[in-house]
Amino acid sequence: MHNLFSEGESRIVRPPSTALVIFGASGDLTHRKLLPALYNLYCDDYLPVNFLIIGASRTRLSDQDFRDSARESVASYSRRELDSEKWAGFSKNMYYQPTDASKESDISELGKRIEALCQGCHRDFNYLYYLATAPRFFAPISANLKKAGLVEDPEQGMRRTSLIVEKPFGHDLESARELNAKLRQNFAESQIFRIDHYLGKETVQNILVFRFANGIFEPLWNNKYVDHIQISFAESIGVGSRASYFDRTGILRDVVQNHLFQILSLLCIEPPISLSDPDSIRDEKVKVLRSVRRLNKEEVAARVVRAQYDKGYINGEPVPGYLQEDGINSGSRAETYVAMRIEVDNWRWSGVPIYIRAGKRLPRRITEITVFFKRPPGMLFRGRQVYDLDYNVLAIQVQPEEGISLRISAKPPGPRLRVEPVIMNFTYGSSFGVPSPEAYERLLLDAMKGDATLFTRDDEIEEAWGILTPVLEVWKQDDAIPLYRYQAGSWGPLEADALLTASGHAWRKL
Ligand SMILES: NC(=O)c1ccc[n+]([C@@H]2O[C@H](COP(=O)([O-])OP(=O)(O)OC[C@H]3O[C@@H](n4cnc5c(N)ncnc54)[C@H](OP(=O)(O)O)[C@@H]3O)[C@@H](O)[C@H]2O)c1
Repeated sequence: MHNLFSEGESRIVRPPSTALVIFGASGDLTHRKLLPALYNLYCDDYLPVNFLIIGASRTRLSDQDFRDSARESVASYSRRELDSEKWAGFSKNMYYQPTDASKESDISELGKRIEALCQGCHRDFNYLYYLATAPRFFAPISANLKKAGLVEDPEQGMRRTSLIVEKPFGHDLESARELNAKLRQNFAESQIFRIDHYLGKETVQNILVFRFANGIFEPLWNNKYVDHIQISFAESIGVGSRASYFDRTGILRDVVQNHLFQILSLLCIEPPISLSDPDSIRDEKVKVLRSVRRLNKEEVAARVVRAQYDKGYINGEPVPGYLQEDGINSGSRAETYVAMRIEVDNWRWSGVPIYIRAGKRLPRRITEITVFFKRPPGMLFRGRQVYDLDYNVLAIQVQPEEGISLRISAKPPGPRLRVEPVIMNFTYGSSFGVPSPEAYERLLLDAMKGDATLFTRDDEIEEAWGILTPVLEVWKQDDAIPLYRYQAGSWGPLEADALLTASGHAWRKL
């Protein structure tokens, strides 16, 4: 598959001049993720030579107030320490315009300010609008930008104008379709960059390199050799400051519909025609999602387990149950844990169960993709060994330690012929000796370049919701579907284990 990689960049090309407007500039996402990411891009010389960052939210701040608060955030959250000289160079490009984005007149004023800041060169600047506000503002902001003449036709415009949209993108299939339709009234699909920050993570991007730049794995990457796959997302934290959002959302919507389905689709795609053309990869990802078997009511009951945590202990510390957390409704039925068995019903994957689990207040924070290869016949070793011949297990750890390990069987030293599992390990930190950039760094840079490969296309979002909306509807309509309980600090309810034992499988110990 040499041709897939031959078009790759040999050096980083800086994006063209860009005015980045951040709606929601006084908010948590901007301060914890976006500004530190931009500062790191600046320090690595990846930002455009000419760039402007214009914060826009209702709070009245001066440019200097914005820079001061940004400095504090970067000092707290950046992966590299704040360097005063670098900060001076970076922050002189930062401005702030008080803006109520639901008011057309405010957006017009914002447009004038951007133009003035570009000092007569505004035609040379691409405009990139980042929607870091609550989702209810996504459609109105896009409409107001259009009305204010701040969106150019991608075919005819002088400059590129694009929109980055945060998650959540809808809460079910219908709302996602509606939001797509509203955004497309004002921006073409090629101008819309829907963020799923998992796609900016090095390990997630490495799935493609791992699969298509190594000769040894791809021939095994199918139902002939793969027994089953597990995708696990575990957090030890509870809901924290996101209580009211999470209580309305639940973990299926919060994590599975976006992050875990993105991982699933990259893991299962056919080789795309090219890695440089955003649509080749996204076309293949959509095909995977379209191939996922939709579940009927009986299958939802049998193949999806939902649960909520009770009080327990994490790292020896007592923690409250979900219903006792601040900001949670006392009768809430929001799921804090979900496990499901799905099938990608296509030629390559037919018959390979894919188990997905996601949970809060589990013993540790970890996201891992685990591929279990079929066991070899064991007759040669019968009677000689301590363990049964085990699966070869390929584990791709997405967080917190980014890396890949392979479990193989080997003979321990000594006169007896025995078989024991050993692990071959690769971690990013020790192999490459540099810390991985934050996901938002890569995504912001790609959006400035106009490269949508790592962003979710409209049909991908709709397919992902199409898989989960039947589950959400069954849960809503049928109170008889249990919401199981699990103790905080455990690995989830026993019923989730039963999903796997029926097929002779077990969750990997993480
Ligand atoms: N925080 C995260 O880690 C995170 C992670 C993933 C996704 N997200 C998504 O990112 C978005 C922002 O989340 P957040 O946590 O940053 O929320 P947040 O802290 O509540 O910030 C919301 C921002 O929106 C601004 N805003 C509210 N009404 C506005 C209006 N009419 N016009 C202009 N600005 C307005 C607020 O500032 P003013 O009050 O000054 O207007 C504030 O800056 C949400 O969609 C969220 O789901 C966040």
